[in-house]
Amino acid sequence: MSISIEPTLPIAGQKPGTSGLRKKTRVFMKPAYLENFVQAIFDGIGGVKGKTLVLGGDGRFYNDVAVQTILRMAAANEAAHIIVGQNGLLSTPAASHLIRQHQTDGGIILSASHNPGGIEEDFGIKFNAANGGPAPEAITDAIYAQTQSISRYKIWQGGALDMSQIGDTDIGDMRISIVDPVTDYADLMETLFDFPAIRVLFSEGFRMRFDAMCAITGPYAAEIFENRLGAAKGTVENETPLPDFGGMHPDPNPTWAHALMDELFLDDGPDFGAASDGDGDRNMVLGHQAYVSPSDSLAVIAANATCAPGYKAGLSGVARSMPTSAAVDHVAQALGINSYEVPTGWKFFGNLMDDNRAALCGEESFGTGSNHIREKDGLWAVLMWLNIIAATGQSVKDILSAHWQTYGRNYYSRHDYEAVDTDAAETAYQALRDRLDGLAGQNIAGLTVKSADEFRYDDPVDGSVSTGQGLRVICTNDARIVLRMSGTGTTGATLRLYLEQREMDPDKLSQDPQIALAPLIAAAETLIGFHAQLGRVKPDVIT
Ligand code: G1P
Ligand code: ZN
Repeated sequence: MSISIEPTLPIAGQKPGTSGLRKKTRVFMKPAYLENFVQAIFDGIGGVKGKTLVLGGDGRFYNDVAVQTILRMAAANEAAHIIVGQNGLLSTPAASHLIRQHQTDGGIILSASHNPGGIEEDFGIKFNAANGGPAPEAITDAIYAQTQSISRYKIWQGGALDMSQIGDTDIGDMRISIVDPVTDYADLMETLFDFPAIRVLFSEGFRMRFDAMCAITGPYAAEIFENRLGAAKGTVENETPLPDFGGMHPDPNPTWAHALMDELFLDDGPDFGAASDGDGDRNMVLGHQAYVSPSDSLAVIAANATCAPGYKAGLSGVARSMPTSAAVDHVAQALGINSYEVPTGWKFFGNLMDDNRAALCGEESFGTGSNHIREKDGLWAVLMWLNIIAATGQSVKDILSAHWQTYGRNYYSRHDYEAVDTDAAETAYQALRDRLDGLAGQNIAGLTVKSADEFRYDDPVDGSVSTGQGLRVICTNDARIVLRMSGTGTTGATLRLYLEQREMDPDKLSQDPQIALAPLIAAAETLIGFHAQLGRVKPDVIT
C-alpha cells in the first residue's frame, strides 16, 4: 500500500459549529480543505490506529468524493475497520445506530443537515463519538485545535473504491464493510413500536403522506411505511435521494415543506403527514388540518410514550433545549419525572441519556428522539405518532386538543432573520446582552420584565460548563422572549427569536399562535429592533 504524507498548512475557519463543520460545498472542494479537517478529527481523537469507525452521509453533492477521501485517509492512518453505508449513504440516525450496534470508536457523518445541497450550496462533516452521539465540546475543541496547528495529512494513494456492492473489501490492513443503510435501522424501529397495530391502522384505510424531500429518508421511509407497515404505494413522495435534493430545501417546516402542508389542509387531505430533513434527523408532523409544533410534539410524546412497546416501562426523564417551549415540563411534572433544560444542539443530551436521566429529548427545531440512539431521529418521531394514533384511535387534531385541555397550551413561535450582515447582527445581539442586567421591573411595550439573563449550562453528569447560550427575557406573566445567534448558517448571521406564552383558559386554546403572541412579538421588536435597527420588515422563516 502506498501511503503519502502530504505537507499542509492550517486553514482558517475550521471551527465546528452547533453540529459539525458546515461550509459552502465549493469551500470543501478547495485543495486540502476536507483532508485537513479529517486529519484533525483523527488526531483530535488521539489517532485512529486500530480503531473502527462508521462512515456515511446524506448523499448530497460531494458525498461520494468525500467518502473516498476519508476511506483513503483512514487506511493511511492505520484504522482497522470502517463500516460504510452502500454508495456512501447513511442517515444520521442510522449512523448513530450502527456506531452503537457495532460498538465502534465513533463515526463520521457527511451532511449539512437541512441546508440545501449542490455545488453552490452547503456541505458538512461531523464526528460522532462511541456513544453514537455528536462529539461533545471537549472533542470538537480538540479537533479545532488540530486544525490550527496541522502540518501534514496522510493518504493512501490508490484507485477509486467501488461503494456499490455490499460486503467486505480490504485496503492494506484496513477492512471496509459496505452495509445496507436501511435494514438494521428498520429492524430497530420494529423493536420499539407496535408495528402490528400500525399495520391494522393502514389496512383500515388510514391515509398518510411522507415527504422525503429528495433527501436521505426516502429509502428508509419506503421500506418502513410501505413495505413493513403496508401503507399504500406512493405514500412516500420525493423518495429518491438526489445530490441537490432536486433543488428543494430539505428542512421539514411549514415554509419549506409547504406542498405537504397544503395537501394536509385540503378538505379531503390525508389523515397524517410527515416530512424529514436532508440527513433524516428532523421531523415535521401534521394531521388532517392540524400542524403539530415541535415543542407540542415533544410534550404529546412524553404524555403518551407508554403506548409504544419500547417505552412501556415509562420514561426515566425528559430533556429539551432551552429555546424549546416548556410544554414538556408540565407533562414531566404530572408524571413525576425530571425535565432538563440544555443549550441548543443535540450533543448536550448525550450525557443525560448515557446517565439514564433522560429517555426522551427534543428541540423546537423539529428535532425529537430518545435513548434508542444518540441523535434526534425523524422517522422515530413519525412512528411514535403513528403508534399513538393507533393506540388511542384519535386523530392528530383530537390528540392535540385533548393535550391542551389537560396541560394548557404553550403558544410558541420562532422567527428567523437570515443572512443578516454579521456585524449588524452582533451589534444587535450585544445591545440586548448589555441591557439584560437592568431589564427586571421594566415595562416593554406593555409587558413587565420579571427576569433576564444569558443562559449557561452546568452539565449535571460531567460538570462541564457551557456559557453564552442565548439571551432570555422572562415577563411577569411567564411569557418568554429568547434571542440566539445560529451556529449552523453559512451566509452572514442568522438571528433566531423564540417566543412563548402559556394559555390555560380552555376557551382560548385554538388561536393562531402569531395572534396569541402578538404582544410578545411587539415587545421583542421594542427590545431588539429587527425593523428599526436591522431594517428587516419581517422574518424570513416563521415556524
Ligand atoms: C439549529 C437548531 C438546533 C439544532 C441544529 C442542528 O442550530 O436551532 O436546534 O440542534 O440546527 O440541527 P442553530 O442554527 O440554531 O445553531
Ligand atoms: Zn438534520
